[in-house]
Amino acid sequence: MSGSFAAPKGIPEYVGPDFVAVRDTLLREADRAGYAHIELPVFEDTALYARGVGESTDVVSKEMYSFADRGGRSVTLRPEGTAGVVRSVVEHGLDRGTLPVKLRYAGPFFRYERPQAGRYRQLQQVGVEAIGVDDPALDAEVLAVADAGFRALGLTGYRLELTSLGDAESRPQYRAELQRFLEKLDLDEATRERAGINPLRVLDDKRPEVREQLVDAPLMVDHLSDTAVAHHAAVRRHLDDLGVAHTENPWMVRGLDYYTKTTFEFVHDGLGSQSGIGGGGRYDGLMAELGGAPLSGVGFGIGVDRVLLACRAEGLMPAAPGRVEVFGVPLGDAARDHLVGLAGALRRAGIRVDLAYGSRGLKGAMKAADRSGARLALVLGDRDLEAGVVQLKDLLSGAQEPVALHDAVAAVDRVLAS
Ligand code: HAM
Repeated sequence: MSGSFAAPKGIPEYVGPDFVAVRDTLLREADRAGYAHIELPVFEDTALYARGVGESTDVVSKEMYSFADRGGRSVTLRPEGTAGVVRSVVEHGLDRGTLPVKLRYAGPFFRYERPQAGRYRQLQQVGVEAIGVDDPALDAEVLAVADAGFRALGLTGYRLELTSLGDAESRPQYRAELQRFLEKLDLDEATRERAGINPLRVLDDKRPEVREQLVDAPLMVDHLSDTAVAHHAAVRRHLDDLGVAHTENPWMVRGLDYYTKTTFEFVHDGLGSQSGIGGGGRYDGLMAELGGAPLSGVGFGIGVDRVLLACRAEGLMPAAPGRVEVFGVPLGDAARDHLVGLAGALRRAGIRVDLAYGSRGLKGAMKAADRSGARLALVLGDRDLEAGVVQLKDLLSGAQEPVALHDAVAAVDRVLAS
């Protein structure tokens, strides 16, 4: 018996228009705010992510697809987009022009996570990054772009959770205080170690025995510098002006280490445990960390897979428009020769056309025409050919009329426009 193949575990595939419709709707909102497209490499130096995303994160320490290429360099399939965008800005000096540099991207990212509904090893994101200006209005713009994307899709069952992770001034003090608090708790060895490296991550521990010890943990929002407090208040004010609803979540812990000040997640209630449909925030130290000028940045990554699930959960996936507008049904070889040419002429005129290929009977071909979603069928038999006509059938009403072959493109155009 010959073997068969399956896609690698945890990798979803999308057939048909829904995926593209969701992705492009999200991208369109970024276009509206002037974000230019950037096409990023799918793999980069492993060190970029270790340095940019943070060694102690799960993403870097447990989930990366890293391998040595044939030249012996360690490369990694991109687990996220921000580090790559910042690397590109630094490498190509994009920050020497007008600031902020505003970029958007879309595509697959790779994380070796345990697959489940809404959590995949190849995940799809649409993201934006605005680099070079530390202005709370820019944070609000980024949030408004994501929110507009969700709204354009018709989503309503989501909320925006927001917090501030402080700045270079407020962070170290808070970190030390959190560490002092964690030292007094009854934690296992691995968790103690994590508390030493990145105490914030411990706040994200889901185990009940840890959670109950954390109720009185000090929170970042109570230890913000005056600058960070003012920044956060301004972001919230701008969001109110923009009509973007938001709630505070001082317990939020993001899975990536580069965040400062504004940090956020969009959460959808119809998705079970993988409820984060998008997340992001400000990353004021990342440019410098990756060898660039000490410029700030802010951005989001939206999980297209999860947004698609959210649309389905809200019953929003509209009936797909037809794959084609016209479906050609040749009855015989001479008719096929003719319809192949006519299909080409129709496509050149901008009309979407498919044909019944192979030797299907009339019944099978008409079924294929119905399934294609086409509005019109062009049925051509030998007798039609002799008379110089083709039968134009309206697949909605069933009405059929002969039209002159030499006038077929114009006739189809007229009906489709009506
Ligand atoms: P992130 O929160 O790691 O942020 O990912 C962003 C979004 O990608 C998540 O909210 C989720 O919707 C989706 N996502 C993440 N992992 C998976 C998975 N395994 N399966 C399905 N969907 C997933 C970032 O990646 C940052 N680069 C976002 C950002 C941009 N921050 C600043 N700029």
